[in-house]
Amino acid sequence: MDAKTDELRAAHDVLAELYADRLGDALDHMPTDRVVLDLFCELTRTAGVGSTEVADIGCGTGRLTPYLAARGLAPRGIDLSPEMIRLARRDHPDFDFHVADLRRLPFGDTSLAGVLCWYSLIYLSPTDRSAAFGELARVIKPGGYFVTAFKIGDNRVRRAGRSTDLGVEFDVYWLSPDEVERRTTDAGFTTVFWAGRPAEGQEGSPQGYLIARKS
Ligand SMILES: C[S@@+](CC[C@H](N)C(=O)[O-])C[C@H]1O[C@@H](n2cnc3c(N)ncnc32)[C@H](O)[C@@H]1O
Repeated sequence: MDAKTDELRAAHDVLAELYADRLGDALDHMPTDRVVLDLFCELTRTAGVGSTEVADIGCGTGRLTPYLAARGLAPRGIDLSPEMIRLARRDHPDFDFHVADLRRLPFGDTSLAGVLCWYSLIYLSPTDRSAAFGELARVIKPGGYFVTAFKIGDNRVRRAGRSTDLGVEFDVYWLSPDEVERRTTDAGFTTVFWAGRPAEGQEGSPQGYLIARKS
């Protein structure tokens, strides 16, 4: 594992309990997130690709999986951080969770009806993005869907983690909507929805959302 990936994984191992505490019921208070997830669920469920299996990639503590299952999808999750996966299994024992890197997905070609990357693509360095988006496209069936939520910014690297006072730091990229849509389109998707909203509370940046269909 390279030093940046090791730093990111170790930081999220430390942050995992905080995520479980703070974000466990966050969707209840985030109507925009629910609207985007609801649209993704409906599009994927009715895509006619012969499956409702989806992967939550960079799933953290697995908080989205029950929401997706309640809307007719069959979700599983992967995350880089073993501690995130331990808490996901603890808090959501009815679902499968595995440690894996989104740059090398443990799924077969065209095996999934859909993929979610909810705030998990914002750690990819520019040099990793083309291959990573290609990997997402590889595992989705033609006609299936991809959804991502991301922090909006100028694409420059910044350091995150300090504000938690847990002694962790790692690289993050607040992405422009143009960058996310270009990477998605280049990987073989067609955008069907995008949106943004201003920062709320302590978020620090506007939030972006994109849903795309695999060609
Ligand atoms: C901001 S958290 C979001 C977690 C979850 N999607 C949610 O909304 O609660 C980002 C997650 O992405 C994971 N992650 C970052 N880079 C990853 C990679 N290359 N492969 C897999 N997971 C990754 C982190 O470990 C972390 O759990």
